[in-house]
Amino acid sequence: MTSAYPNLRLRRTRASAWSRALHRETLLTPADLIWPLFVTDGSGVEEPVASLPGVSRWSVDGIVARAKEAVALGIPCIALFPHTQPGRRSDDGAEALNPDNLMCRATKAIKDACGSDIGVLTDVALDPYTSHGQDGLLDDSGYVVNDDTVAVLVDQALNQANAGADVIAPSDMMDGRVRAIRMALEMNAHTNVQIMAYSAKYASAFYGPFRDAVGSGGLLKGDKKSYQMDPANADEAMREIALDLAEGADSVMVKPGLAYLDVIWRAKQRFEVPVFAYQVSGEYALIEAGAAAGVADRDALLMEKLLAFKRAGCSGVLTYHAAHAARLLNG
Ligand code: PBG
Repeated sequence: MTSAYPNLRLRRTRASAWSRALHRETLLTPADLIWPLFVTDGSGVEEPVASLPGVSRWSVDGIVARAKEAVALGIPCIALFPHTQPGRRSDDGAEALNPDNLMCRATKAIKDACGSDIGVLTDVALDPYTSHGQDGLLDDSGYVVNDDTVAVLVDQALNQANAGADVIAPSDMMDGRVRAIRMALEMNAHTNVQIMAYSAKYASAFYGPFRDAVGSGGLLKGDKKSYQMDPANADEAMREIALDLAEGADSVMVKPGLAYLDVIWRAKQRFEVPVFAYQVSGEYALIEAGAAAGVADRDALLMEKLLAFKRAGCSGVLTYHAAHAARLLNG
């Protein structure tokens, strides 16, 4: 092919702001954001999370205020995670099944205050409730057992749905949990409760600050490599996603985010389903640390990264920057 220059000049459409606006292929709006929030005990409590500058744990009243803030900003969904007191943690994570646990109280309070103005996404996995910090039940060798864990996760999911959760998000990576949870939801009149499956969740070095935030960091012995995926694998991510879809997932998630854009892209191209990314705690902390070190402008950096998820094919992004990004987008 001969060069099309000078007839074709790609700089022509970039020459002015109106033209750049007209040719923009990807749009990021507050409606693309899901805001993860950490719940803690008490009332009137705000506890900053040291490893996540700008992020706090809030007591239920504060969580309700954040939910109202999200509604006002145009953020359609919040994701809840509990900071469980050490005294309520146990080997079997039974606190996950307590109908009056932090997650249930926060979910009910948000639903009472905001109704269907906002979706509440709840995480299904046992790590915020176990004394060992693993996502499931352990056998004598310390291995996280699959099927017995799934049975508990089903009860955890029902407990959350009974409290009013709109989206159940299993982050545990056990085999077969999506099907088991879907069946239980169907049999218990929760037909419109969605499942967003953490389908391709990697055993990542980017989760450290989250484990501080939910209080499981110091407890965790070993790693989660026997259930979370090897960062080297992408074909396997497609198998995970195919299975979760077949088992009844309404949407799928890739986690962490930016280091796995190829997985997001492949998933979207291949399955043509809603794909979400979780820009995780370590990604947030690195943006904040980079900005604090003067490496780059924080707002420009985070908006460029969030846009990248949309460009790669995401329907939305879980990000601790959600409220701040929405404020920037709303001007
Ligand atoms: C655990 C869970 C983790 C995150 C969400 N759910 C951490 C882990 O797997 O250890 C990480 C989120 C983040 O880092 O922001 N089920």
